[in-house]
Amino acid sequence: MSTTVAALREALAHSPENVPLRVHLARTLLEAGRADEALVEARAAVAQDSDRMDAREVLGAAAGELGDDATLVDAWFPIRTQLGADEVRVLALAAARTGRLDEARGAYAVLHAVDPGVHDLALDRAMRAAPEPRLPSSALPSSAPPSPARPPRPLDAAAEAPVRGTRPSINFGDVGGLEALKERLRMDIVYPLQRPDLFKAYGKRIGGGVLLYGPPGCGKTHLARAAAGECGAKFFVVEIQAVLDMWLGESEKRLHNIFEEARASAPSIVFFDEIEAIGGARHQLKHGPGRRLVNQLLAELDGAGASNEAVLVIGATNAPWDVDSALRRPGRFDRVVFVPPPDAAGREVVLALALRERPTETLDLASIARRCLRFSGADMHHLVEVASERALGEALRTGNLRPITQSDLLASLDKVKPTTIEWIETARRYVSYANQAGLYDDVGAYLKSLEG
Ligand SMILES: Nc1ncnc2c1ncn2[C@@H]1O[C@H](COP(=O)(O)OP(=O)(O)OP(=O)(O)O)[C@@H](O)[C@H]1O
Ligand SMILES: [Mg+2]
Repeated sequence: MSTTVAALREALAHSPENVPLRVHLARTLLEAGRADEALVEARAAVAQDSDRMDAREVLGAAAGELGDDATLVDAWFPIRTQLGADEVRVLALAAARTGRLDEARGAYAVLHAVDPGVHDLALDRAMRAAPEPRLPSSALPSSAPPSPARPPRPLDAAAEAPVRGTRPSINFGDVGGLEALKERLRMDIVYPLQRPDLFKAYGKRIGGGVLLYGPPGCGKTHLARAAAGECGAKFFVVEIQAVLDMWLGESEKRLHNIFEEARASAPSIVFFDEIEAIGGARHQLKHGPGRRLVNQLLAELDGAGASNEAVLVIGATNAPWDVDSALRRPGRFDRVVFVPPPDAAGREVVLALALRERPTETLDLASIARRCLRFSGADMHHLVEVASERALGEALRTGNLRPITQSDLLASLDKVKPTTIEWIETARRYVSYANQAGLYDDVGAYLKSLEG
C-alpha cells in the first residue's frame, strides 16, 4: 500500500493540477487508515474543483474518521442528495452537533424524501441538544418574510409557542376600488360570520375557503385583513414558509395548534399567505415534509374531527398555477378570486387614501390616476411617497412647510414604474395555454381590457 501511495505522490508531483489523481491518492490514503493525510489531499482536491462529487465524498469520509464535524458538513451538505442514506444520517448528526440546524434540517429532509416514515431518535436528541438554542420571542412571524439568516429555533418550543390572533383595525373602507370583489367577500366571508342563522335558514353552507390571487402589491393581504376588520373576526396569519422551516413533524403540530386556537376564538379568519409554497415543495419532494403538511392542512380544512363553524380561511398567492390542486376541491379553497390591479377609479381612491394624512393643495387626482395604467395599489402608495419626499426636500431647504402639489405628483410619475408587468406577462401565458376549466377567465378579461 505504501508503495502505491508513494507512486501516486510521485505522479502528482509531476501533474499537480490532476484532480482525479489527487482524489485517487486521498481515497487510497483513507483506505490505508491514514485519514489525516487523506483529509489534506481531499481538501486540496475540493479547493481545486469544488464541484467534484468524489472529492467531496472522500473529504467528508476522512473528516468523519477524524471526528471533524465542521469539515464533514462543509464537504457533504452540498452533495447531500447524492449520498447514501447512512451518510446523510451522519451528515445530519454532525450538523446538529455543531449547531448548524438549517443544514441538519436540510439533511433530514433528504432522508424523509427517501423514506417518509423515517424517525431517528439519535437525530432528534442531537437537534434538541444543539448548542445555543434561542427561544422565539413570539409565535409565528406575522408579516415579515422569514430572513434566510434566522437563528435556529428549538423545535418543541416553536411548535408549542402560543398562537395569537389579532383584531385588524382596518375595514373595506380602507381598500380602494375592487368594489365587486368586496361585495363578493361580503357574501363569502363577512355575512356568514355575522349572520350564520340566516345562512343556515336558507340552507347555505358556511365554510370553505377563498383563494385570492393576482399580481404583487394589489391588496390581497390588505383585503384579507380588512375582511376580518369588517366583521370583527380574529385574524390569524399563517406564513407557510415559516411553518415549513420548522423541524419536520413539528410543522404539522404547529398548523393544528393554529386551527385549534382559531376555533376556540371564533369567529375567526385564518389567512394563508403565499399558499403556493405548501405545494411548491411538491416538485422536489413528492413525499417529503411539504406533502405531509398539505395533508395536515387538508385535514384541518375538513374539520379535523372538530367543527370549523365560524372559522373561515383565506389563502393568497401570486402563483395560483402552483397551488396544489387538492387544495382547490370543494370545501377547501373552492372559490378562486382574481385581485386585479386597480382600475382608474380605484387608483384614484388609493391615491386619496395614501394622501389623507398629509398636507396637500387641491389636487386633480383623477388625472394622475388615469396616467397610472397597470400600477398596483402599492405602486400608487410609492408614487405618493416620492411626491412627499419632493415637497419635504424643499421644505427642508427653505425651512417652510408647503403642501404637496399637483406638480409633485406629476414629477413623480417619471420615477415610479408599475411592478405588475412581469406578473401580467406570466399570466398571459397561463391564460393562453393552461386555462383549465376557465379558472383564469377573470385574468383573461382583465388582459383584454388592457388592449382596449
Ligand atoms: N386597493 C388598495 N387599496 C388601498 N391600499 C392598497 C390597495 N392595494 C394595495 N394597497 C396598499 O399596498 C400595500 C401592499 O398591498 P398588499 O400587501 O395587500 O399586496 P399583496 O397583493 O398582498 O401583495 P403580495 O402579492 O406582494 O403579497 C398595502 O399595504 C396597501 O397599503
Ligand atoms: Mg401579500
